Amino acid sequence: MLELQHINITFRKGLIGRGSKPVLEDVSLSISKGELVSIIGFSGSGKTTLARIAVRSINPDKGKIILDGEDISRLGFKEMSRYRSRLQMVFQHPEGALNPEMTLGDSLREAVRKAGYSGKSFEEKLDSLCAELEIKKELLNRYPMQVSGGEIQRIALARALAFDPNYIFMDEPTSMLDASVQAQILKVILSRKESMGMGIVLVTHDLDIVRSISDRVIAIDKGKIVAEGTAEEVFSSQIPYIKDYVDSWNELESINRNIGLHA
Ligand SMILES: Nc1ncnc2c1ncn2[C@@H]1O[C@H](COP(=O)(O)OP(=O)(O)OP(=O)(O)O)[C@@H](O)[C@H]1O
Ligand SMILES: [Mg+2]
Repeated sequence: MLELQHINITFRKGLIGRGSKPVLEDVSLSISKGELVSIIGFSGSGKTTLARIAVRSINPDKGKIILDGEDISRLGFKEMSRYRSRLQMVFQHPEGALNPEMTLGDSLREAVRKAGYSGKSFEEKLDSLCAELEIKKELLNRYPMQVSGGEIQRIALARALAFDPNYIFMDEPTSMLDASVQAQILKVILSRKESMGMGIVLVTHDLDIVRSISDRVIAIDKGKIVAEGTAEEVFSSQIPYIKDYVDSWNELESINRNIGLHA
C-alpha cells in the first residue's frame, strides 16, 4: 500500500513569503495494489503537486509518504532510485520529461537499462513494451520534436512500465489524445492492473473516464480533499466541481436533443 499522510505544502512567494496560501493542506490518501483511484478537481486545485509529492519529485513541508510500510519521505534522489520498480509517474507534459537531444528509442532503452535488463532480455523487454503500447520500431529513430503528442505519451508510458511498477501516477495521460489512443492507453493500464495488480492513481478532467474505470474517486478543491468514495457517491455529492460538470453535461445533452442528434 502507498500512503500519503497529512501532506502540506506552500510555494512561498518572494523572499518572506507573505500572502502565500497553502497549495495542499492536510491531505491524506492511500492506494492499494490492484486499485484504480482517480483524483479530480478544478485546474490549480493541487492535483499535480500531490502526485509529484507522492513520487518524491518534490518535498512536502509536512507529512509522510509510506510505501509498503516503509517511510520514504526523507530519502534522497539516489536512494529513491532503488524504488523505481515500485513507484513511477507519467507527467502531465511528458515531452518535458524527455531529453530533446535523444531519440525516443534511446530514451526508452535508457529506461529498460535502468530497470536492470541486459543482453537478450534487454531486447525482449524492449520488444514487449513496443508491442504492448503499439509503438512502431520506426518511431524509435525520431526525436521528440518530430512526433505527435500521442506518440510521446506512449513512449513516456512505456518508459514508466519498463520498471513494472507496483504503483503508477498518471497525470492527465489522455487529455491530448484522440479517442482511439485514449482507449488504447487505458486498456494497457487496466490490463496491468488485472494481470500484475498494478495500483493506479489517475489524475484527469475527463469525468466520463473517471466514472467508467475508477474503484475510488477523490475530489480535491483548493488543496483539500472535499469528497471521497465510489464514482457514484462522489458524483452525487454537491461539490461545485461535480455540479458544474453535471450541469454542463446536461446542457450539452439538451443542445444535442434540440439539434436532433439524439432522438
Ligand atoms: N513550483 C511551483 N511554484 C509555485 N507555485 C506552484 C508550483 N507548482 C504549482 N504551483 C501552484 O500550485 C497550485 C496547484 O498547482 P497544480 O499544478 O498542482 O494544479 P492542478 O490541480 O494539477 O491543475 P491542472 O488541472 O491545471 O493541471 C497552482 O496555483 C500553481 O500555480
Ligand atoms: Mg495538473
